[in-house]
Amino acid sequence: MKRIGVLTSGGDAPGMNAAIRSVVRYGIYRGLEVAGVYHGYRGLLEGEIETLNISSVGDIIHRGGTMLRTTRCLEFKTEEGFNKGLQMLKTFKIEGLVVIGGDGSYHGAKRLAEAGFPTVGIPGTIDNDLAYTDYTLGFDTALTTVVNAVGNIRDTSSSHGTVNIIEVMGRNCGDIALYGGLSGGAEAVIIPEKKTDIDELCQTIIRGKNRGKLHSILLLAEGVGKPYEMAEQIKARTGYDVKVSVIGYLQRGGTPTPFDRILGSRMGAHAVELLMSGKYGRAVGIKGNKMTDVSFEEVLTMPKNYDKEIYELAQILAI
Ligand code: ADP
Ligand code: F6P
Repeated sequence: MKRIGVLTSGGDAPGMNAAIRSVVRYGIYRGLEVAGVYHGYRGLLEGEIETLNISSVGDIIHRGGTMLRTTRCLEFKTEEGFNKGLQMLKTFKIEGLVVIGGDGSYHGAKRLAEAGFPTVGIPGTIDNDLAYTDYTLGFDTALTTVVNAVGNIRDTSSSHGTVNIIEVMGRNCGDIALYGGLSGGAEAVIIPEKKTDIDELCQTIIRGKNRGKLHSILLLAEGVGKPYEMAEQIKARTGYDVKVSVIGYLQRGGTPTPFDRILGSRMGAHAVELLMSGKYGRAVGIKGNKMTDVSFEEVLTMPKNYDKEIYELAQILAI
């Protein structure tokens, strides 16, 4: 293998730049030429591809977003679009590809690998919704943003004595809410993986207020949704003033934490090693602080469960 490509796809995530930098610099260190594919699979279809050098990826390790930009490209899902992408890789003499993205992007990467094109994946998504890896790239930074937001909202919640629902991202996965709730000291965590009884939730809030708690923070995962309806239900049962904050895209940006920079750097190098050693059709992960790799097949069928111990601990510590 002489020349590989790298692209970012799906929702962006802080740390993607560290991974791109690593693929490019580690690839060059290992004697490869590395091409950047801009705008994800859409750029692949359109041939938005250029060779990167060591300086191309300078001054990006500390930046959120992705220097290669990203898209959600429906055309690549079609037979015709997919074949166009595959042909473009050949036209640009690319012999291996690193796809940095979430599970949607992995479906595209898996198809490439199945079509015989050497492809490996790096889990770039804030959602932490892939079971094969302890952490996805960007999750730690998003969590940091969430915890800062929780801290700010806790101040005003304490001053006014309000109940504050904070909706966070994560698609169908409750990890941002769960870990954000534990680290932010929230009174409750509401995630799609575990049903929350509204009456029990109200009892928890009332108990807290009665023992003199000033603030009341409820971390709600977007996979549960309907924060304003929940606010009405709590208001109706408790009489408290309930405020809603949807943090939204704030969570997707910002300077990556050291953890995500290190993770991106390690994963980028591991992805290059996989391509060089002929281990294709696999996604890079981290398990117990060690780099691992798992087949796309397994990655995409492994069910993601929430961590019950963390959930229970968050509940115990919130009383
Ligand atoms: P993420 O990778 O963050 O989960 P998406 O689910 O939007 O984001 O997927 C990103 C992109 O991956 C899609 O826009 C599409 O281009 C590509 N993709 C998703 N599923 C497939 C598929 N079955 N075949 C080919 N490409 C796919
Ligand atoms: O996958 C990352 C993510 O931010 C999810 O948490 C969220 O559900 C989704 O992307 C939002 O997608 P879009 O950028 O298309 O609005």
